[in-house]
Amino acid sequence: MLFMIMLLTVGSGVAVQHSNPFQFGRELGTGELVDREKEIQLVRRTVENRGKLFLIGPRRYGKTSILKVVEDQLTAGGAVILRFDAEAYGSIDRLADAILTAATRSFSGSFERVGKRVAQFFGSLRPELTMSPDQSVTASIGLSRTRKEDLPTLVQVLNGVEAMAAGRDEPVALILDEFQFLVGAGQSAERQLRACVQRHRNVAYVFAGSKTHLLGELTGSPLRPFYKLGARHFLGPLPGADFAAFLRSGFEDSGYAVQEPALQAILALADEVPYNVQQLAHTCWEDLRTSEDPVLSEDVVKNALDWLVRSNDPFYTKLWGRLSRQQMRTVYAVIGEAGRGMFSHAVARRYGVPTPTMQSSLAKLVSDGMIREEQEMGTTRYRLEDPFLAHWLALVQPR
Ligand SMILES: Nc1ncnc2c1ncn2[C@@H]1O[C@H](COP(=O)(O)OP(=O)(O)OP(=O)(O)O)[C@@H](O)[C@H]1O
Ligand SMILES: [Mg+2]
Repeated sequence: MLFMIMLLTVGSGVAVQHSNPFQFGRELGTGELVDREKEIQLVRRTVENRGKLFLIGPRRYGKTSILKVVEDQLTAGGAVILRFDAEAYGSIDRLADAILTAATRSFSGSFERVGKRVAQFFGSLRPELTMSPDQSVTASIGLSRTRKEDLPTLVQVLNGVEAMAAGRDEPVALILDEFQFLVGAGQSAERQLRACVQRHRNVAYVFAGSKTHLLGELTGSPLRPFYKLGARHFLGPLPGADFAAFLRSGFEDSGYAVQEPALQAILALADEVPYNVQQLAHTCWEDLRTSEDPVLSEDVVKNALDWLVRSNDPFYTKLWGRLSRQQMRTVYAVIGEAGRGMFSHAVARRYGVPTPTMQSSLAKLVSDGMIREEQEMGTTRYRLEDPFLAHWLALVQPR
């Protein structure tokens, strides 16, 4: 069908929406987020104050969406927001080029005028500008690159951005998502970056990342160069009541009846991870669309989850197949114990994994990104990064 019909009025006069209101796998924008007002305000004020902030949170908790909303809000007010996913560039040099290009595009006027402005702030890098047929300018660094460990080009680009920010009334911010990528460049790179960022007074910095364990240590250990470089905020889960209300209206506005236990089941089965909540709700919504009896019940939720994990079976099978026997037992222990008290004798006995092995297995599973460590109220808890893995295990690998 050529035209997407968004709304259809059914016999009862209720408007039924034809596009799924539950979105996952992309950054959300203004008006699409549940809660997060405080975080949006925090990032926004950091930029307006020309401050520095580390926003650290588990995978798929909505970090990038928060950054996107702030970018949209502030750009509308004239700010220059240079936002990048550090991991997407593959090398620090390519990231430096991308920052330079974005800074270049923030200058208005003719090609010559832009060239002059770029030379003013970034001249030491001998930038080369090219104009593509769609009139967008791309900048690349003409200077020959030195060793990756030395980071000089990125540091020079950031110094240029600082100089550029000094001459503007509206804020200029560099937002680096997944900034743990820079950490992989080594200690000397970290030190140089810190020295540069610490000196800057005019450009705001927001660093976001999802390796909570690594980033917590990087920014919180006196031995690491990022120690106390900026404020830190650890992103928590979304308030359950707000998320439930969002889900309810998504279903009800589409004309479907909702049973409260089913909503709670979506939240619980997705273990509060916003991405998984939206994915499960999305699947339920699609099922209801073709159902004779469009009522969101616990059965609908259970069937949707079964379908989701079965359709990801090859992925889970591969993931699971890479684990050693002890690591598999460790995963079962994390699920069975809700990740608590993992180093007790009782747990070691119950799952047949001696405590030192449990420790090393958990460390490996955390660094491989299968499990995350969460500190809460003075204790450590381990959780699956993908809560649906537990359901796949229950379904296809019953013990
Ligand atoms: N505040 C929110 N309200 C509703 N859904 C949300 C919210 N935050 C995140 N989500 C859901 O999670 C998905 C992922 O969001 P986002 O990409 O912003 O998270 P992230 O923490 O940056 O993830 P990653 O760790 O993969 O980079 C979104 O597409 C959406 O489905
Ligand atoms: Mg992200």
